[in-house]
Amino acid sequence: MALKKLVAGNWKMHGLSSDLAEIKAIADAASTFPGVDVALCVPAILIERAARAVPNFPIGGQDVHHAEKGAHTGCVSAQMLLDAGASLTIVGHSERRDAQRESDSEVKAKAEAALSCGLSVILCVGESLETRKAGQAVQTVAAQVDASLPDGEGAAAGVPARLAIAYEPIWAIGTGEVASPDDIGEMHAALRARLVAAYGDAGDQVRILYGGSVKAGNAAEIFAVPDVDGALVGGASLKADDFVPIIAAAQPAGAVEAERSIA
Ligand code: PGA
Repeated sequence: MALKKLVAGNWKMHGLSSDLAEIKAIADAASTFPGVDVALCVPAILIERAARAVPNFPIGGQDVHHAEKGAHTGCVSAQMLLDAGASLTIVGHSERRDAQRESDSEVKAKAEAALSCGLSVILCVGESLETRKAGQAVQTVAAQVDASLPDGEGAAAGVPARLAIAYEPIWAIGTGEVASPDDIGEMHAALRARLVAAYGDAGDQVRILYGGSVKAGNAAEIFAVPDVDGALVGGASLKADDFVPIIAAAQPAGAVEAERSIA
């Protein structure tokens, strides 16, 4: 049976107190789509205020440090995210892999730290335009997943249900360019195979999201691709008017898997 779709917003470095009303509008609208899990990943400093404003709606971080605590100036631990009211976090976004030079092994350590604290995790992978043009996209992204997936023993502890992989081709992020349904389908099938290789049958429970210029106008087509279990949405998640139609596109017409939450 199809997995319940997850539509998560990544607010990146956007969001002030004055945007709490927008978060409330998104959370209110999301509650009218029970067939979709919805979450917003906001700047760390906004998490507590957002979580207080929408107590029944999943608020997440955008990064987490792998260590429990210590001399890591400017960083935030998984326990701190939880303490602030977050129930999930993104790890390994390409903007961090690039600007903060995060390696696969570091991303893996972050994912493990977050999962072991009880947070859900959206682990991002994706190829550059050069890699795609060279015909190396699938093998590059599969290798990224292999090297950054939390260890298999976690599968027994319910990790797959709290883990999502976001396939985000770097050239599609914030550019208006979107991978074709065929390319998305090919990549997601390859990722599903890697997840099953790592976790066995439980690998079928890990949601695989697509990210990169998802908008109201292309969401339905993307969600119709096999093994697309939701979306990670940047620019179009900032306003309820843009984000809610994407959530609506993820709402299944018929029966859905029993209630299941990202939190
Ligand atoms: P975008 O960003 O939707 O603005 O392309 C997606 C992301 O980076 O997660």
